[in-house]
Amino acid sequence: MRARFAGVGHYVPERIVRNQDLESIMDTTDEWIVERTGIHERRFVREGEGTSEQGLHAARAALKAAGLTPQDIDFIIFATLSPDYMFPGCGALLQEKLGCGTIGALDVRTQCTGFVYGLAVADSMIRAGMYRRILLVGAETQSMGLNLSTEGRDMSVIFGDGAGAAVLVAGDDDGPGVLDTVLHSEGSHAKELWMEVPTCLVPTTRTIELVNEGRHFPQMNGREVFKHATRRFVEAVDEVLARIGKTRDDIDLLVPHQANKRISDAVGERLGLPPARLVQNVQRYGNTTAASIPIALSEAIEQGRAKPGQLLILVAFGSGFTWGASAVRW
Ligand code: ACO
Repeated sequence: MRARFAGVGHYVPERIVRNQDLESIMDTTDEWIVERTGIHERRFVREGEGTSEQGLHAARAALKAAGLTPQDIDFIIFATLSPDYMFPGCGALLQEKLGCGTIGALDVRTQCTGFVYGLAVADSMIRAGMYRRILLVGAETQSMGLNLSTEGRDMSVIFGDGAGAAVLVAGDDDGPGVLDTVLHSEGSHAKELWMEVPTCLVPTTRTIELVNEGRHFPQMNGREVFKHATRRFVEAVDEVLARIGKTRDDIDLLVPHQANKRISDAVGERLGLPPARLVQNVQRYGNTTAASIPIALSEAIEQGRAKPGQLLILVAFGSGFTWGASAVRW
């Protein structure tokens, strides 16, 4: 047995924030953002909407696509770096919102690589015979945590909100499904892309001091991230291809984490993939971290770009650093 995608769905908030809207609240330009990132617009939630709520909409869409109900699900995996609360995790909140009994719910915290890690966990559980139907969600509410002033402009123009979900079911070994996954991390680069506060390294009574110093905003060394991302994306794709005995020419569709169009373009170029075999929607949603792969996959399916029998590669890199890739027979 292995995990097969039975249904994929996504949700993005209604509110569209264009680069021109950001021009009015910080010192930036549409031209700078488009040239450096390829992003034209992103979605921001309304206050109070949050990550589990977005995940709920995406989960319902995925369940509908799979022709299943919440009661059919055996287990929930929820990937996010922007949970509603420090604890409990969004998985348990989604279990309650969906009303799917007292099934287990696991939160995955590997940032932009969360969906790929979650997929590996789901596939392993299904292969082990532990569960037959798993709901995997990637959802993010970035907008509430960004520094939307000129000081935070290098980060805040890149990120957006949204959610994607997949229903994974037990499939036959010789049918469609997850063929293999590779996962990596390198914590020596933790501070190249991180959010320091809230932290449990100091008593919570001192958190306010750190917040006053602006240390609760995400920080990124953009150039280091760019350098490592372009290298690790390609390595992960090659590694998973080697494990399944395939080559770059065999890739029908690459669904990369939508970090930034320049990163995806560079990866596509290094892999020798024409645009038709590379999914890109960062232009419309910005970087939605753990949600970006399932949103991109969901749109690719809607557009008829993922066809039965094709080889899809899902690949991600992000904070940690973490990176990984899954090979999927569609
Ligand atoms: N608008 C206008 N100017 C800006 C902005 C902005 N939003 N942000 C930074 N600048 C300015 C800087 O202040 C700097 O000005 P200075 O020359 O007067 O000092 C100038 O633009 C150049 O800044 P750099 O940081 O050197 O710009 P760079 O060309 O490296 O581009 C960027 C920055 C886009 C972040 C780039 O490094 C990059 O693409 N990095 C990859 C990071 C990424 O995509 N992360 C996504 C999240 S991680 C992930 O998902 C894998």
